Amino acid sequence: MLGRFEQRFGIDLGTCNTLIYQRGKGIVLQEPSVVAVRKDTGMIEAIGAEAHAMIGRTPAHVEIMYPLQDSVIANFDKTTAMMKYFISKIYGRNQWFRRSHVVITVPCGITNVQKRAIEEIIIHKGASKSVTLEEPLAAAMGAGLPVEEPVGSMVLDIGGGTSKVALISLGGIVLSKHIPFGGLSIDRDIIEYVKRAYHLIIGERTAEEIKKKVASANRPNEELKMDIRGRDLVKGLPRTISVTSTEISEILDGFFMLIVDQIRQAMEQCPPELAGDVMERGILLCGGGALLTGLDQRLQSVIGVPIQLAEHPLECVVLGAGEMLRFEALQKKDLNAVLQNNF
Ligand SMILES: Nc1ncnc2c1ncn2[C@@H]1O[C@H](COP(=O)(O)OP(=O)(O)OP(=O)(O)O)[C@@H](O)[C@H]1O
Ligand SMILES: [Mg+2]
Repeated sequence: MLGRFEQRFGIDLGTCNTLIYQRGKGIVLQEPSVVAVRKDTGMIEAIGAEAHAMIGRTPAHVEIMYPLQDSVIANFDKTTAMMKYFISKIYGRNQWFRRSHVVITVPCGITNVQKRAIEEIIIHKGASKSVTLEEPLAAAMGAGLPVEEPVGSMVLDIGGGTSKVALISLGGIVLSKHIPFGGLSIDRDIIEYVKRAYHLIIGERTAEEIKKKVASANRPNEELKMDIRGRDLVKGLPRTISVTSTEISEILDGFFMLIVDQIRQAMEQCPPELAGDVMERGILLCGGGALLTGLDQRLQSVIGVPIQLAEHPLECVVLGAGEMLRFEALQKKDLNAVLQNNF
């Protein structure tokens, strides 16, 4: 049993964002999963929010890296350094998860090697126990769905690197679908479009801003415009153009149809009783991509199933890891923790 001085943490290590939940405190860290590295020496210049602020503004000798790609660890050393930095931010000093119990969320269907890489970072650096929890299950728990009950709950998580559809019943994943596209691929499509249509090079941050401000999954009723600055492809000089919500929204069509296709496939493979539950109770929409304007309405009208936008789309997964810590404490009859309501 965990002693009274041991801490409990939940971690959502995402392609775009890392969130850490601490029992008794709530979400204690929410930072971009980004590292700025010197190209010549490989030394780290900045991590998290500080590195994110450097995107598109780095000097020639500095490179911006996402240590996770498609929701799994792509660079072990940089992920380790990033976690070490985040933990030191929580503890206020440079130390690992000493004598801590950690629940870390992982994508469905990752390989044992990928799982071991994650455990190695957490366990071998001081945690006394680490448990992995599948992301869709965590998202459903974080949104307060009755995951333990014999009813079907469907979750659609649109993250930065990947999107996931999963069906949950009786505390487990019945089936899951993985789409290797997310918010970052929409940003890349916007960069490509502006280059093709206007011969203008724009950066990742501008593309993300366009997505958040004027993109709409539904055809917009009101035409929005946004002025953007970039570098002319031919002349090499800065130039400003104006993009409209209609042209940007058309870029989302391919991505939208991919998601619809995966949901349809999941529904087709669903056992009939559970499909009935989903038809009645709807699909939980979460992840940062859930915030795309009009996505919930368009999905609902195309699929014909109610879509429930999560109350906290970016935080659901880590809140679910926090719930898991509470469950474990209850199951272990950690009465002190329960009585003190110290979660
Ligand atoms: N208001 C918004 N409109 C559209 N997209 C948004 C909005 N806010 C955030 N996003 C997008 O959400 C994505 C990040 O979502 P999230 O934090 O859930 O991903 P992640 O968990 O890090 O990634 P993954 O789950 O794929 O590992 C980014 O691509 C970001 O641009
Ligand atoms: Mg995620």
